[in-house]
Amino acid sequence: MLDLENNFSENKLKVITIDGPAGSGKSSVAKIVAHKLGWIYVTTGAIYRTLALLFHESNMKITDVEHIERFISFISERYRQESSTGRVFIGEREISHEIKSPFVSELSSILAQEDFIRKRLLPIQRKVVLNNSGAVVDGRDMGTVVFPDAPLKIFLTASAEERAERRKKELSQNGQNADIKEILREIHERDERDLNRTLSPLKPAVDAFSLDSTCFSQEDIANKILQLAVQKDLIISREF
Ligand code: C5P
Repeated sequence: MLDLENNFSENKLKVITIDGPAGSGKSSVAKIVAHKLGWIYVTTGAIYRTLALLFHESNMKITDVEHIERFISFISERYRQESSTGRVFIGEREISHEIKSPFVSELSSILAQEDFIRKRLLPIQRKVVLNNSGAVVDGRDMGTVVFPDAPLKIFLTASAEERAERRKKELSQNGQNADIKEILREIHERDERDLNRTLSPLKPAVDAFSLDSTCFSQEDIANKILQLAVQKDLIISREF
């Protein structure tokens, strides 16, 4: 861990937001940065994915508002993300692998288009983060909607081909095989939905730093973010 001191006034929010499209490397980079700072890491896509998994398993229609409410309350009470590993639990049940399935990926991005769902998941995302002192949080609208007050915002991108390669590798590490063309097609579809939805579309906050990870390692990007955190007086480093 780096020898870092925090330089906060009492009221300064200790949050770094990392937004970007699927497979841009947000989660991996966020984990590295959080680890180096001794902060927690939160991936908000996992909350949307958990909702999708609950729907998938219940065979309910996504238009059934009563069930949406019930699932969201369930998530609010039982959802947990293990900060050091990113493992996801609902109550005692670990769902880290199930929520990564292609079906859940697609359904989560469909559910994420719903105004009502986004509004109900917003306080849950803030609660998970603000219960801790210091968080690196990734998603699509962290810098624009959920933490517009974050002192450091990153918008991370990578080419669609590179993102598809990364997703394929991630899936095979979880024992799932997938065709690269199929992954690429799904990525384009999800990008389309994330970019074009009316509520909280994927876009950089006006005060976000845009970084392209296509040709850089996760460590390089993480170090760049730490340098920006120093420039922003968010942290002081004796080792950079
Ligand atoms: O980041 P991840 O790919 O795990 O997110 C799953 C889906 O949840 C995305 O396709 C996106 O549509 C949605 N999402 C969102 N806003 C967030 C996080 C995820 O709309 N903050």
